[in-house]
Amino acid sequence: STRPSICFRPINPSDLERLEQIHRDIFPIRYESEFFQNVVNGGDILSWAAVDRSRPDGYSDELIGFVTAKIGPAKETEISDLIRYDSCKGEETLVYILTLGVVESYRKRGIAKLLIKEVIKYASSIPVCRGVYLHVIAHNNPAIRLYKRMSFRCVKRLHGFYIINGQHFDSFLFVYFINGS
Ligand code: ACO
Repeated sequence: STRPSICFRPINPSDLERLEQIHRDIFPIRYESEFFQNVVNGGDILSWAAVDRSRPDGYSDELIGFVTAKIGPAKETEISDLIRYDSCKGEETLVYILTLGVVESYRKRGIAKLLIKEVIKYASSIPVCRGVYLHVIAHNNPAIRLYKRMSFRCVKRLHGFYIINGQHFDSFLFVYFINGS
């Protein structure tokens, strides 16, 4: 078999079905169709796709991984008290990662790490952006190891943050500080 050739590109409308399918397959939480529409149409959600260009025709542009994120004001967020404010530079912002996933057959090759790096690179290019943060369910060890390895800091445990089939689960809040925060 050929060596994988992983590339990163923006998510576009032709990814809709595949994006919904992967979310259904790998997350315990259901997302609204409005969320997927927003991602593929480049609404206020930022996204990066991973594809394997070495796959045969018809698959070489198919999503094998993705990250979705949102940028917004740092004030009034759960971590507003943890960042540095510069009165003269305009409104500080934060990037929030909504979903991150890699299909099973492509895991453990560093693809998720590269997807997160894309988000950090983007956030770092915005002078008023102070960090990247996310929630992860407390028992998701592979994801938690990834965030720790990438120097995200675990700043809170939120009790009963997720409700899945009527059951409550804790989450961790992880933050990667940038631009001097
Ligand atoms: N050779 C061998 N091992 C490697 C290589 C390589 N070339 N590259 C990376 N690895 C190892 C890493 O060291 C890491 O090892 P560890 O888990 O033992 O610490 C492991 O592979 C995973 O690291 P990555 O390859 O960077 O991550 P991956 O692409 O496998 O994706 C993810 C991780 C996204 C958590 C994946 O398991 C997944 O999609 N899970 C289901 C969905 C999910 O949980 N998403 C995150 C939820 S939180 C949120 O969405 C905000």
